[in-house]
Amino acid sequence: MVSTATQIANFNFDNCLMNAAGVYCMTREELEQVENSAAGSFVTKTGTLEARAGNPEPRYVDTELGSINSMGLPNNGFEYYLDYVIELQNQADSKNHFLSLVGLSPAETHIILKKVQESDYQGLVELNLSCPNVPGKPQIAYDFETTTEILTEVFSYFTKPLGVKLPPYFDIVHFDQAAAVFNQFPLAFVNCVNSIGNGLVINDETVVIKPKNGFGGLGGDYIKPTALANVHAFYQRLNPSIQIIGTGGVKSGRDAFEHILCGASMVQIGTALQQEGPAIFQRVTDELKAIMTEKGYESLEDFRGKLNYID
Ligand code: SIN
Repeated sequence: MVSTATQIANFNFDNCLMNAAGVYCMTREELEQVENSAAGSFVTKTGTLEARAGNPEPRYVDTELGSINSMGLPNNGFEYYLDYVIELQNQADSKNHFLSLVGLSPAETHIILKKVQESDYQGLVELNLSCPNVPGKPQIAYDFETTTEILTEVFSYFTKPLGVKLPPYFDIVHFDQAAAVFNQFPLAFVNCVNSIGNGLVINDETVVIKPKNGFGGLGGDYIKPTALANVHAFYQRLNPSIQIIGTGGVKSGRDAFEHILCGASMVQIGTALQQEGPAIFQRVTDELKAIMTEKGYESLEDFRGKLNYID
């Protein structure tokens, strides 16, 4: 019997597929659609200390090869999402979930995480160190010193299962340096990757999104090779206790299969979910299971991380 079930930390999931933060996760109604789909879990929109309207529209556009966005972290405030995941956690048949969070400063991040620590929430937390779209705020995880400082402080008080959402890295030295930072901490997972930040898409003579004069994060087909490289680079470098969530360019069972082959324990769908809706989870699951059946694999463990190289 072929199964796509998986585990992150001590949490079980019937299916390894779920949404990527930012897609189908802004409101309870959207999250409910993912909850009621074939997805194994959902992650909430990254919640900040206060609710945010985000950047001016148009701020998300589908393109031939994926998407470009500069949403600017619009969200209902972290407490909205925290209340919802606690509510679901108290229901007997609920899936396990991921609560995505970040402050607009390290101080705000600590205020948020201390509130989550004090709350009844027992699920997984994803700290977003990689949003490229808030004007004036760099992607935190490109600054290894700040990242180390934040995580050092976080793990002085936070004892619940925590992972980080990472931007893509593009240099072998940066894979080495980033892994050396993350290996110092009891992280449950790293999620590779957020969008490739600050791309530019042009229609005729004009940019296609309004914020930042058109600069925005790329998703979809553009980013799959970069995402796979990041998943595999961290799979090779991180302590085995730090699991990998693979995100980037997943729109088929074959894409999900490749993420798992590179080392992912769970796979998130962003742009393709935005374009196709939550029915995508059943289609991609069926396609993934068909590939596994053809290859004689019964579980993700049969092929996770077992990427072949050319001698
Ligand atoms: C956004 O809200 O701008 C996207 C979030 C992210 O890329 O982390």
